[in-house]
Amino acid sequence: MINKDIKSTYDEHTYDSYSYGQTWIDYLYAVARLHGLAASDPYSSNILEIGCAMGGNIIGQAINHPNSNFIGIDLSSEQIAIGKRAIDGIGCTNIKLIEMDICNLVSEFKGKIEFDYIICHGIYSWVPDFVRSAILDSCKELLSKNGVAFISYNCYPGWKYVEPLRDFMRFSAVKSSGNVADLEPGLNAIKFQKAFYAKYMPNESSATHIKNLNLEYINHIQSYPKSYVAHEYMEICNQPFYFLDFVADANDHGLCYIADATYHFDPSFLPDGAISQYFKLSFDDYISANQAYDFLYSIRFRSSIITKAQNQNTLITSDEHKAEFIKDLHFKLTKPTPQLINSAKNTYIEPLAKALNDLFPATLSYDDVKA
Ligand SMILES: C[S@@+](CC[C@H](N)C(=O)[O-])C[C@H]1O[C@@H](n2cnc3c(N)ncnc32)[C@H](O)[C@@H]1O
Repeated sequence: MINKDIKSTYDEHTYDSYSYGQTWIDYLYAVARLHGLAASDPYSSNILEIGCAMGGNIIGQAINHPNSNFIGIDLSSEQIAIGKRAIDGIGCTNIKLIEMDICNLVSEFKGKIEFDYIICHGIYSWVPDFVRSAILDSCKELLSKNGVAFISYNCYPGWKYVEPLRDFMRFSAVKSSGNVADLEPGLNAIKFQKAFYAKYMPNESSATHIKNLNLEYINHIQSYPKSYVAHEYMEICNQPFYFLDFVADANDHGLCYIADATYHFDPSFLPDGAISQYFKLSFDDYISANQAYDFLYSIRFRSSIITKAQNQNTLITSDEHKAEFIKDLHFKLTKPTPQLINSAKNTYIEPLAKALNDLFPATLSYDDVKA
């Protein structure tokens, strides 16, 4: 029943379907290799995208990997129909979009096909518990031996700061039209909040902190396309959780965590001293260090990469060991990123951040990076 409601929200407000670099299979391959997992060659693999919307994220990948096979599934018939028309227009034959519920993936594909890469971007937090469980079951049952799955989700503690805004938008929608997911009254509510702050918010310091935080998020919401805001802020389900809980759920489903797709803070970057010692002693395993990182930086979105639990023993998480796998990689930024220099300040990667930024778009070899 709830899946029927979710389907109709996406049929009505189709989701702008983009390509996300952090889900590209070449990239997932590189991250998996970096952590010691011999992932399958992305140029001859089977790939499944769960909740592909119109296929915007995999159509380009299918064109670039003509010897790999791509399947995208989504609940929304409207979105699948738009994607199919695009694929027919391009004449791409190694990709299929199918209208299907995530809950039917295992019964449909088990024993018929295994996937080397499963991509699930922007779904996991936005579906009910039983669908989340079906996503993890599908990864366990349908991944090949060294298969890699990408799952992104909203997380705490970052989302704790945004939740009151989402609640206010939905509360205002119910008051206005009786429909909790009605976008316009939701947007009007935060427009009103901004105007109210400009005139009436007192200048006491605690109120100012809250005002500034809310204003930052309101500006962020107002700068995004309506289709994104409708689903991120007004959607029936949006359940963020702590990274630790994601990992525990993955473990319960016979899966294990490899790394995040966007490189996260490594405590060994901290120069020796009391702060570094406290961190290393208090958060002495990979998962706890990652969770501590989320607390320190108030992380609100994660892109986690997982594999079958049987691969746990082959995984490498220390930087020294990773080096073995990256000797033939070359490094560059995807765009000039001066803020990287700021965030690397006073850590031993500060010179590297500066070099990558100054050299953009040129690359650095592994030996250059090490030096
Ligand atoms: C927020 S959109 C994300 C789309 C796309 N992956 C992206 O990141 O742009 C969520 C998608 O999940 C799909 N979806 C939600 N529940 C589903 C289910 N039970 N089975 C299949 N697809 C589902 C929706 O139709 C929608 O296209």
